[in-house]
Formats: sequence, structure tokens, C-alpha cells
Amino acid sequence: MIPEITTFNDYIKQWDEASRDPAGYFEKIARSFTWKKNWEKTLEFDLKEGHIAWFKGGFLNITENCLDRHLAERGGQPALIWEPNDPREKNCVLTYRQLWSQVCRMASGLKKLGVKKGDRVCIYLPMIPEAAVAMLACARLGAVHSVVFAGFSPTALADRIRDADCSVLITADGFSRGDKSVPLKRLADEALQVCPSVRHVVVVSRSQPYAIQSAREVGWTDLLERGEETFPAEPMEAEDPFFILYTSGSTGKPKGVLHTCGGYMVWAGFTLRNVFQTRPGEIFFCTADVGWVTGHTYGLYGPLLNGLTTVFFEGVPTWPHPGRLWEIVEKYGAQVLYTAPTAIRALEMLGSEIPDRYAMPSLRVLGSVGEPINTDAWLWYHRHVGKERCPIVDTWWQTETGGILISTLAGVTPSVPAWATLPLPGVQPVLLDEEGREVPNEAAHTQGYLCLKSPWPGMMRSVFGSHQRFVDTYLRRFPGYYFTGDGALRNAQGHYRIIGRVDDVVNVSGHRIGTGEVEDALNMHDLVTESAVVGMPHPVKGEALHAFVLCPPSQDVSQGLKKELQDLVAQKIGRFAVPEKIFIVPGLPKTRSGKIMRRILRKILAGERDLGDTTSLLDPAVVETIRQTVWANQ
Ligand code: WTA
Repeated sequence: MIPEITTFNDYIKQWDEASRDPAGYFEKIARSFTWKKNWEKTLEFDLKEGHIAWFKGGFLNITENCLDRHLAERGGQPALIWEPNDPREKNCVLTYRQLWSQVCRMASGLKKLGVKKGDRVCIYLPMIPEAAVAMLACARLGAVHSVVFAGFSPTALADRIRDADCSVLITADGFSRGDKSVPLKRLADEALQVCPSVRHVVVVSRSQPYAIQSAREVGWTDLLERGEETFPAEPMEAEDPFFILYTSGSTGKPKGVLHTCGGYMVWAGFTLRNVFQTRPGEIFFCTADVGWVTGHTYGLYGPLLNGLTTVFFEGVPTWPHPGRLWEIVEKYGAQVLYTAPTAIRALEMLGSEIPDRYAMPSLRVLGSVGEPINTDAWLWYHRHVGKERCPIVDTWWQTETGGILISTLAGVTPSVPAWATLPLPGVQPVLLDEEGREVPNEAAHTQGYLCLKSPWPGMMRSVFGSHQRFVDTYLRRFPGYYFTGDGALRNAQGHYRIIGRVDDVVNVSGHRIGTGEVEDALNMHDLVTESAVVGMPHPVKGEALHAFVLCPPSQDVSQGLKKELQDLVAQKIGRFAVPEKIFIVPGLPKTRSGKIMRRILRKILAGERDLGDTTSLLDPAVVETIRQTVWANQ
């Protein structure tokens, strides 16, 4: 069993030990997993160069740790419970043995298609059990999966397939979320027109029986049937690539965050067990989609590594009724519910009487992830969902960090509304000032750029296809540190509170969106000369996107253009990235060197009269015209 931290003193002791001797500490943790061959060197790193290696020379396969290892003791226990979008449809339960068997067959089927260790496989699926099987099957044979959220558009999918040079795409005919249906295969086909690297397309029949349309297509069930009953897990070196997951950054092009096999496994298993204080056999309900990192680490790999039952939910929290989440918690007797502040705020607005109708006696721990949780939402979650008896863990982490870095350990370390609180063992956060100096811990509250000064096992290793981009994005701004892109506060007890992004990334409903990506999409419109996108606080979504679009003065700019621009963003990225408001303006506030001063746009949107120093603007008069446009359109 993965070692556990059980008391506050134990936490302090282990955090100290891991900081003094990370290699010694994580060697002990890693030994609780199954390895095919022991590692030769526990840790080697040079943060300036972006060289990080954990458990070098060790061989493992994560699926043996997620599945094979449990078969003797819990082969008949549910590994995954799938709750469909429509509650009238039958759910599906896969025991550890059944999941193992499907994974073996699919790995074998994929191998028969020619997929081998190191090849990239793109997975573009809704939240169905096949998504879990597909990911684990790739892991079993050593292929690198790149899961693309099914809400992404064909263009975004194509960009990701091409960047990773995927040879196989696994998708589904279509699916529904709430009352909306998505013709997924049609979207995939559109993307595939520009993806010559894809040799095979595996199609799951999700909404209706799917008839194969071309020689490169193969049905999911056919492939399963073609697969052998057992499939030996490929030995993976600890630092072999495990998966790629694309994420937005401050530049337009999304980055393929690369995780490796050994460190990620150890971190996923270790953090889940300790943050949520789980026991094998418990029911773990993480509402995140597998298209995001939370769905990877705490929807799939972490729960299975710990012998839990994971609940996969295909739908949305409010459909067909606003008590759906609470109903699912009760239906399966979940001990842990892990969701995002956006969902909590949206459910809070529907009224407390809804969760009050559900006692949810099984619940033991509540989790929050993806964005800062405000005190009101925290208290509501605590009262109406946790019935004041479940600790809340506000877990701070990123796609890049592989798993949770700063969080309360449920019932073990203090839980404070709106504070992520303390770092896990092996995590050494620091706050840096503009010049890169560590802000000392003297004052009651200190604030700065949140950085990490040593590597932990789950840390990303590179940006797929461009190691230099990894170094430039995360390691160059403050040499010797990993820069998170977040700003944070620290109090005298050493607790952290995450304020939010300090770069051009906006967090809308827990989805990270690079403003540059949205601007690139808007600028593709023939009438748009230039655009600037900013994030503004939003009562439910956390933040919302607002776009300022510059068009040539002679153009007749009508409502029609706004609609076209919204469609363009939906087409290039996905619906979730469509700006809430679009303002068509005659100019943008630029400095003499041509940089757009977004700060001014945010202040105008907030209705602030005092815009601060605007003397560096090339044309200060532009501010007034923008203000008028905003007023006229709000
Ligand atoms: C934000 C999601 C405040 C943060 C796991 C981070 C949070 C970004 C929290 C990563 C939290 C995540 N409190 N902010 N508990 N958790 N964030 O890559 O800005 O989708 O940098 O990973 O979400 O988002 P990502």
C-alpha cells in the first residue's frame, strides 16, 4: 500500500525529510509500487537546463500497478462505474478483472494495427468507459496517448494531432451532454482531412450502431474481438514518455505537456492517497472530463493505483434536474466528491434546498480544483454538500505538475476557506518578486510569483517536440526555479492562497484559455485588423473572456459580425472559448512600442474612472472611444 501521512506532526516530519533528502524520501514511496526492474538513480536534475530524471534505469508499466496488482485481492470489485448522460440509460460497471481484460484486448488490437511503443495515439472521446480502456491500452503497450477534450473543434483537434504526429485516432460516432448532442465523428472527419499521419481510426458506437465508412476505419468492438485475451505489459523505462496533454499558455500555440512513466505514477498514487486519505475499495467521484489533467490523474490513474472505484460521469451536473450530482453521490455511495468551483457556484445559485434534500451519508471528503474557490462557495459546499462533517481539500496544481502540489490533507492538516494551504512533501514553493528574489517569510501576508525550487516526481519533463519551449516557458523567467504562471499569497503559518494567473491565461470555468489563442482565431476574420482579449471576474465561471476587436473604419460593423466572430472562435478552438462579449472598437490602447495595455481594457470594463498612468500610450484619446463603446454595449 502507498504510504500514508496520518497526523499533522507526521506531515511536518515527512515534509522536512522530503525537503532535505528528496531522493531518500521518494525512494521509500516508489518502493510501494510494482516495478519490473529497480531503478539505478533516484533523482538527477538541472532545473536551468530542464533536465529532470526520477528513478532512472527503473522499468515499470503503470497498468500493472493500476490493474494486475489488484486482481488477486479485488478482481471482482468495481474499478469503474459509468453513469450515462441520460439516467434512463443503463449504467455500466467494470470490475478490475473486466477492465484488465478489455485493456489487454484493446492493447493487443492496437498492436495488430501496427501501434508500437513510443507511437502517439490521439483519443477524442466523451466520458465513456472506452475512454479509460483506450488510455490504459495505450499505456499497456507503451504508446503515448494524447487525449483531446471532446469539446474541442476540428481545427483544434487537427492542430494537436499534427503536432504530436499521431498515427491512430480513437473516437466515437457521437454523444450527448445534457440535452445537447455532439456529432463527434463528423468533427473528427473534418480534422482528419488535414492529418495525413493518421493511418487508422477506431470508432466507438456510442449513440447508434456505426457503419464503417472507409478502409482505415475499424469499429471498437471489432478491434476488441480481434485482440488476444492476455497482453503482457510493455516494460517502460521510468523516463520513457507516458502521455501528452495540450494546454494553453501565454503564446498562441498550445503546448504538448509531456509526462513520463515512473514519476507520474508515483505522484498520482501518492497524492491521491494522502490528500483524500482514501482506503482501498472506496468510491471516488471526480467530475472532471478525461480530456483535462484532473480526469487523467484523479479520474483514472490515481484511483486505480489505490484500488478504488472511480465514477465516470458522462453528463452535466444540472441535467435532467439540478440534483443530479447529489443523486449520483447517493446512488453509488461515494466517499469522495472532487469537483470545480464553477460547478459549485452554479449549483449554489440553484438553491440550497436541492442538496439539502440529499443526506449523502457516505461522503467523507470534498475536493475543489481548477480555480480559486471563493469563501462563499467554500462555505456553501461545506454546509449543504458536506453537511459540516466533511473536510474540504482545495487542491492547487496544474497540467504541468502532474498531480496536486498544494492542498490540505483531509482531516490531517488544517482546512481554511479559500486557502489551498500547505505543500505536499517534496514540494518546495517560494514566492518571488519581480527581480526573482525570494520574498522572506516575515510579514503577516506576503505575495509574489509562485515558483517551485526543486523537482517533484510528477513534474512535466518537456514540451513535446520542443524542449526549448519547455525551458523558455517555465524555467527561464527565474533561473533555477519552475515558474507556475500563478500569483499567490502566503501567511505567517506558511499557508498558500492562490490568487490566479499572472500571465495571459484566463481560467473560464476551470478551463485554461490562452488569450493569444482566442486573438489568433479572431484575427483570422477578414474584417479584423487586430484584437485584444482579456479576462474579467464572473460570478459563476470565475472569469469570462471579453474581446476588443479592431476593424477598418470604413466597414459597416453590425451585429452579424459579432456572431461571425463567435462562430469563428467556436470553429477554431471550441464553444467553451467563445468570448462572452465582443466590442468592436476603432483603436486599441497601445504603448509606443506597440504593446497592447490590457490593464487599461480591464479597468474600462470594470467601470473604473482612474485608469492609472496612460502617458505611455501612443494615442491616449483612444481610451475615451473604447469607454464609450463599452458603455453603449453593456
Ligand atoms: C488554476 C488543473 C486556485 C491555477 C489542475 C493553475 C487553481 C491552473 C487551483 C492550472 C486551486 C488550479 N486554486 N487556482 N485550487 N487549481 N488552479 O492546467 O491558475 O487545467 O495555474 O490544471 O488552474 O490549470 P490546469
